[in-house]
Amino acid sequence: MQIDAVLTPAEIDHLPEADLSRTHCVVFDVLRATSSILTGLANGVREILPVATLDEAQAARAQWPDALLGGERYGDRIPGFDLGNSPLEYRRTDVCRIITTTTNGTVALRACAAAAEVWAGALLNMKALEEGLRASAPEKVLLVCSGTFRELALEDVLAAGMLAHAFPEAELTDAAQTARSVYREHQSDLGAALRLAKNGRSLQRQGREADVDWCAQVSLFSVVGRMQNGILRAAAAPVS
Ligand code: MLT
Repeated sequence: MQIDAVLTPAEIDHLPEADLSRTHCVVFDVLRATSSILTGLANGVREILPVATLDEAQAARAQWPDALLGGERYGDRIPGFDLGNSPLEYRRTDVCRIITTTTNGTVALRACAAAAEVWAGALLNMKALEEGLRASAPEKVLLVCSGTFRELALEDVLAAGMLAHAFPEAELTDAAQTARSVYREHQSDLGAALRLAKNGRSLQRQGREADVDWCAQVSLFSVVGRMQNGILRAAAAPVS
């Protein structure tokens, strides 16, 4: 297995044109998009549709009138939407479908849409990701770090590195090795690393430290968020 990583949003821009037909992508937006998506799926949301823009979200709502609209811009709930992007809001068990649009996470998921497999990853489902990858043993894995606006995000690189670290037998590209080094630097206290990251600091300033603490939990959920035809559903690891 070869493990590569995309560490910055600039690289994500090129993914829609890349040939990912034999690549298994794992997309991380630890603070907070993929953590929220996984919290929803683990709590019984059946389908989550990640979209890049507000217009796409509204258009999708016309197709899925029963769905809640979720997501954020500048971290805040979008006016008129039902949910923001706090993972704590995604613990609701009365919701069947959610359409979500966020600044980076949903964009990164969409950018990987043509890949052989696309999974939503976070610290919250780290063990499930590892077990799922072991079971499916893909030839090529691409760890996609969503970032924040146009910048690299420490927490995404850390999570990607934690997954890479679990596969000592794999061939790692320099990008994946870099992510693994970041994980090794912080492995003794992942919560502290999330609070140190720029995103973590800004969430704390906004009084959203509970979100940071939530997202810092490792392997709370045993599901992988698997995207097929653009829709994320929970799949129990090993994924088949
Ligand atoms: C994003 O997708 O850019 C993030 O999840 C932003 C956020 O923290 O809500």
